[in-house]
Amino acid sequence: MSTKPRVSLVTCSDIPDLDDEDAPLIGALADRGIDARPVVWDDASVNWAEAGLVVLRSPRDYADRREEFVGWARSVPWLLNPAELVNWNTDKHYLEDLRARGVPVLATQWFEPESRLTKQRIHTRFPASGEFVIKPAVGGGGQDSGRYTANKADSRRLAILHAHRLLKDGRAVMVQRYQASVDTLGERSLVFIDGEFVYAVHKAAVLHGPSKGPQEEHLERIDRVTASDAELAAAERVREVVREIMVERMGAATTLLYSRVDLVNDDDGRPTVMEVALTDPSLHFSYYPGALETFAVAIAQRVTAGR
Ligand SMILES: Nc1ncnc2c1ncn2[C@@H]1O[C@H](COP(=O)(O)OP(=O)(O)OP(=O)(O)O)[C@@H](O)[C@H]1O
Ligand SMILES: [Mg+2]
Repeated sequence: MSTKPRVSLVTCSDIPDLDDEDAPLIGALADRGIDARPVVWDDASVNWAEAGLVVLRSPRDYADRREEFVGWARSVPWLLNPAELVNWNTDKHYLEDLRARGVPVLATQWFEPESRLTKQRIHTRFPASGEFVIKPAVGGGGQDSGRYTANKADSRRLAILHAHRLLKDGRAVMVQRYQASVDTLGERSLVFIDGEFVYAVHKAAVLHGPSKGPQEEHLERIDRVTASDAELAAAERVREVVREIMVERMGAATTLLYSRVDLVNDDDGRPTVMEVALTDPSLHFSYYPGALETFAVAIAQRVTAGR
């Protein structure tokens, strides 16, 4: 048996060997004397007590089994980011916690499955004009998300069917106005490793029409970008609030191994939160030379410190 310290990089059964972006972490950690392996989170044969430091990377199949996923996270002795934060962050209702603490987030209408909305009720709650987005409160990769036009009958009908389908499946639904700046300026993701801002990427608009169902994969077009002062300030404010949430839920705030804050401009040009990704974000290492190494060093330091 290897006596080297162990790191488990958590993925899902669809991508058991990690995605292309994370796979080189194995070698980068090996260079630091660490035995790193990909591990599928719901593989019943894994003994998590022997998995060493367990780092979430691509467990991207929890959308319709969030409770099972959070239960698993809570059962892992040494997980990063921590399980209670995973619990908070895997349901986009967390956006309302941010809003309540003064962080600008996209205005969102929530449809809950318990309210048993009829198609007619869904119709009357949708915006009367402009474009809007429907997406599930639990999900990632833009899956089960669609873009609709309020005053076009066909589009509105598809939107009703989409929201109704999600609700029938027991999933909470988010309705947001389509933020026009996403088509022009795009979205910016600010990546933090070990509590420090490291780099930012630009993501082009992802949604181009109605949802084509749960299996639809969206093409992501990513570029390097320089974060503005206003974006950095908005992301710092988000991180402060996340620390407050950690204190409330976990009794203390720890430095997060990774976080990604996704921002879009509101109609007045102010950076506004689209998403705070603390569970399984793509960290887009390949866009910045040295980014993967920075992440490997951060992991290795935790392993050496033993916590
Ligand atoms: N209100 C909106 N206005 C414009 N575009 C939106 C809006 N909501 C979502 N989108 C588009 O859909 C994509 C996915 O939405 P979001 O980031 O909220 O969910 P996700 O599925 O968790 O994403 P990720 O791909 O980051 O995991 C965004 O990157 C953006 O391009
Ligand atoms: Mg996103």
